[in-house]
Amino acid sequence: MEVKFNHVTLTYPNGIEVLHDMDFDINDGQLVALLGPSGGGKSTTLNLISGLLSATTGNIYFGDKDVTKQDALERGVGMVFQNYALYPHMTVLDNIIFPMKMAKIDKATRKQRALDLAKLVRVDDQIAKKPSDLSGGQQQRVAIARALAKSPNILLLDEPLSNLDARLRVEMREEIRRIQKETGVTTIFVTHDQSEAMHVADKIMVLNDGRIQQYDEPQSLYENPSNQFVANFIGEPALNVISARQLGPGVTQLFDGEVATIGIRAEALTNEVKEPAIKMQAIVHEVLSFGRDHQATISVGENQLIATDVTTTALINQEMTLFAALSGVYAFDKEGQRLPLRGERT
Ligand SMILES: Nc1ncnc2c1ncn2[C@@H]1O[C@H](COP(=O)(O)OP(=O)(O)O)[C@@H](O)[C@H]1O
Ligand SMILES: [Mg+2]
Repeated sequence: MEVKFNHVTLTYPNGIEVLHDMDFDINDGQLVALLGPSGGGKSTTLNLISGLLSATTGNIYFGDKDVTKQDALERGVGMVFQNYALYPHMTVLDNIIFPMKMAKIDKATRKQRALDLAKLVRVDDQIAKKPSDLSGGQQQRVAIARALAKSPNILLLDEPLSNLDARLRVEMREEIRRIQKETGVTTIFVTHDQSEAMHVADKIMVLNDGRIQQYDEPQSLYENPSNQFVANFIGEPALNVISARQLGPGVTQLFDGEVATIGIRAEALTNEVKEPAIKMQAIVHEVLSFGRDHQATISVGENQLIATDVTTTALINQEMTLFAALSGVYAFDKEGQRLPLRGERT
């Protein structure tokens, strides 16, 4: 089911507007991640889609239908939260059956569907257990099966993996992607973890301060961030930031507009001659190696940088020339908006 927000705002009862002019489309059958720091407005946006909150102004559509005034039940959404919220006294199978029982689906049909869903989420060998006898990952699988029980129009997941340890998180994000592709259900997945969003989503909506910063495919967000917030939030290690003054007009004149800061991806920096690139005088202080990964600590004037492809140890603590490949160099104005290369169409 397609989801459309048309100039939606949300003001909480305390009078504070936390979402401003949200305008977007989520295509049918896609897996979209809402990504951003805590307090950015992710859960509020998700609750507007679910119908747990209603928009203060603007309209929400599912397909062609205006659902702005409909509640969660009418909208037919399935939800999964960070805390698994399974019924502790029921078996796994009864947990999955429960929403269908409430909807008065006949006994044989609902049991068969629950068994099919248990198989889909790979807990079919656990159906007689109580939730407390399952691992966190298995409980989240059951929660997903239960959310899918009534064949929802849309599946909503609010930080579903936050309670799991790092290894399980990686396994479960792949599982969520698999389940979403197998069912084809339009899915919206909230996370504050950029790497999780990058791995799981067809498209990512970056939210900060209740505004959409950018809504794009994962690779486009990385390669073509539209502002400093996105450039900084996506990618690991974080973007290096240098003041325009430090690099001088030779660099700033490459861009259209008043450059305040330059951002450089850690992997764009190299000690080998590279074109097209910007050149800078730098001091490499230290190169640490972690298995395949390298991390060089560098200073350019007052600015501290991290580089992953500078591996020279020949010139430690001496001034040398470094290159930053232009594809990993971004210019921002003082509001943090991205400035295009001179002569490049915007
Ligand atoms: N019930 C509420 N009443 C008032 N303000 C709220 C309420 N819930 C959330 N907020 C505020 O709305 C903003 C967005 O919150 P939220 O959507 O929960 O962010 P996220 O899920 O991205 O962490 C925050 O500033 C938060 O403090
Ligand atoms: Mg939240």
